[in-house]
Amino acid sequence: MSGAAPVSALSVRSLRAGYGRGGDIVHGIDLDQPPGTILAIIGPNGSGKSTFVKALAGLLRPRAGSIRVTGRDVTGLSAARRVAAGIAYVPQEKNVFATLTVRENMQLATEFLRRRAGTGPEQEARVLALFPELAARARTLAGNLSGGQRQMVAFAGALLANPEVLILDEPSAGLSPRFVSETMEAIARVRAAGTSILLVEQNVRAALRIADTVVVLVAGRKSLEASAGEIRPADLADLFFARAA
Ligand SMILES: Nc1ncnc2c1ncn2[C@@H]1O[C@H](COP(=O)(O)OP(=O)(O)OP(=O)(O)O)[C@@H](O)[C@H]1O
Ligand SMILES: [Mg+2]
Repeated sequence: MSGAAPVSALSVRSLRAGYGRGGDIVHGIDLDQPPGTILAIIGPNGSGKSTFVKALAGLLRPRAGSIRVTGRDVTGLSAARRVAAGIAYVPQEKNVFATLTVRENMQLATEFLRRRAGTGPEQEARVLALFPELAARARTLAGNLSGGQRQMVAFAGALLANPEVLILDEPSAGLSPRFVSETMEAIARVRAAGTSILLVEQNVRAALRIADTVVVLVAGRKSLEASAGEIRPADLADLFFARAA
């Protein structure tokens, strides 16, 4: 294997997923994410973005296909074991406990992490160095933080697992423009520290500013994959509208 391309941080093959007895929502997605990159997943409302990442995180059992993290097949693992295998997930909603402090939220995030290498006090120090505004607010209730700071608590909790891949589902949702920029900068810092990020975003312009690669999901299928520099937002509007109609 010498001279071969580096093993993908995340590799997905023919993934199908849906809910209960309903039809497939995700219709056979293939994906390869190189290590140390931000891959943005964008697409219209209801196109299956959250469903796709829930299947990656192990919250929804895939109906077919496979998921590998740094070459290891995690398809049959529970959500908790997938975290231990290197894939961490921050959901779209309710991703922090408002009535707990920043520190308590972070402690809770590590409760089940005993088996993962590279976790513990040193990782906590590395994570807090990435988010200095949290280090200064360890005793503040998460509910009293700004929306942007709350997102950082959620990122920080997930990063305590020292993941290879961090999945973020719409971290900028509901944030004012200033906090959107801060949040995107924080995500770019996480990549610089060596973690690959799978970023689901509605805010296409914000995502394009930091992403390396963009995948457009329409009606549960990949309708475009391109490097972020090749994509113009105006073209995306056509793609979203034409295929989603
Ligand atoms: N728990 C669920 N049970 C049944 N159907 C669901 C469930 N969650 C989502 N769906 C359906 O799956 C489809 C895709 O939803 P999903 O939330 O994955 O889209 P999305 O691209 O994340 O949308 P948004 O941009 O609004 O977050 C929708 O038709 C939705 O109604
Ligand atoms: Mg969603």
